[in-house]
Amino acid sequence: MATEKTFYLETFGCQMNAHDSEKVIGTLVHEGYRQVELEQDAGLILYNTCSIRDKAEQKVFNRLNDHKKLYKAGKRFGVLGCVAQQEGEKIFERAPYVSLVSGSASYRKLPEMLARLEDGETRITGLDDRQTEETFETEFTSRQNPYRGYITIIEGCDKFCAYCVVPYTRGKERSRSSSSVLAEARRIADQGYTEIQLLGQNVNSYRDPEGKLNFAELLAAVGQVSGIRRVRFTTSHPRDFTRDIVAAIDAVPTLCDHVHLPVQSGSSRVLKMMAREYTREWYLERIGWLKAAKRPISLSTDIIVGFPGETADDFIQTMDLLQEVEYDCVFGFKYSARPNTPALTMIDTIPEAEKAQRLQVLLDRQREIQRINYSRQIGNIVEVMVEGMNPGRGQIIGRSSQNKPVNFTSSALIAPAPGAYRQVRITGAFPNSLLGEAVQ
Ligand code: SAH
Ligand code: SF4
Ligand code: F3S
Repeated sequence: MATEKTFYLETFGCQMNAHDSEKVIGTLVHEGYRQVELEQDAGLILYNTCSIRDKAEQKVFNRLNDHKKLYKAGKRFGVLGCVAQQEGEKIFERAPYVSLVSGSASYRKLPEMLARLEDGETRITGLDDRQTEETFETEFTSRQNPYRGYITIIEGCDKFCAYCVVPYTRGKERSRSSSSVLAEARRIADQGYTEIQLLGQNVNSYRDPEGKLNFAELLAAVGQVSGIRRVRFTTSHPRDFTRDIVAAIDAVPTLCDHVHLPVQSGSSRVLKMMAREYTREWYLERIGWLKAAKRPISLSTDIIVGFPGETADDFIQTMDLLQEVEYDCVFGFKYSARPNTPALTMIDTIPEAEKAQRLQVLLDRQREIQRINYSRQIGNIVEVMVEGMNPGRGQIIGRSSQNKPVNFTSSALIAPAPGAYRQVRITGAFPNSLLGEAVQ
């Protein structure tokens, strides 16, 4: 009797990685594998990895180290994703019990790589250093999120910001055809999903290979798919952020009131060193368009502090920008030097303690801004999509169109299932979430 093929998969990193994992799981299941919950129970242990910052990269090596003793029991290990593409065959040297190393641009070859693994090969690689023009499209996606359907519309990145590994780990920028994206949106709607999130490292750099729709038109078209109530998209790059995206949000009610627009720094001098290809003024002009929209569009961003050469004055400019934009959410990071990137050759003069202090100052100020922003919502009635329950507190957990977490109570006897929508009156506010009660 053939032994059952089982796998364990753990995912690190961004939403693109999370969604890649849904496609990898679907592919494995189609190849006759069964997913298990514990490393111990799996014949094949896979880690889908992230290398955006050094800390993220270390996680996978820690995980491999923790579980290498399982190798003796005849298990196989595979490293997928961004660390796999970045480190390539070096992973076999560092962790000789690993048999498969594959970057995301090679996943369409997974069935073939799995067959070689089953034949006993121990040094299988899927490494594609910015060569492929193809995207990973599969009908076997195994959707793990019960209320949000992800669709990757563009893979890779051609922007080469000075600090960033993604152009090297994810390959060339390549978009899917709009007809394929829309077909997937319809399939997801037919499965009962009402929320779609369009994904791309730079989602708005989308270029339809069929030449039919630009990004804003694709957004509007996805928003008009029958059954879809919410469309989100992430991440937008300021360089490619056009006014028609704001017009689409104003025109199509299903497009959510939220745009994530990473600024990285408030100083044009630092932006230039980062090779972001826009200035503070260019960025703020786009924020102006978003603030002038008819819809109350919530804004969020990513910021790197302590980039090589960032002065105290540059940092003050970032703090000023924070105050000017009044974001609803900020992801702040200390600069982390990464392999292969141009910034690696810049002299990193800022001591770690100074980076940590700048990050703390930034996050403290942002918390204050959010406390005020969120409290402005008190008294409003907002539509919330339910994501789960907090039984300890008797609260239902969900999210508003603006992407704000909302915890609310309801007098209804039966708790709403994930994916349900409720009208909620906001009764309280914290810096990171809202409190409310369902309106009957
Ligand atoms: N494509 C998106 C960003 C994707 S990476 C964009 O250009 O906006 C997610 C975030 O990680 C980035 O916005 C940046 O803030 C952060 N990041 C990337 N490389 C980093 C590094 N070397 N050190 C610290 N933060 C980094
Ligand atoms: Fe990285 Fe810049 Fe590409 Fe974003 S645009 S993924 S920060 S290189
Ligand atoms: Fe990490 Fe790769 Fe995403 S480096 S953030 S998993 S694109």
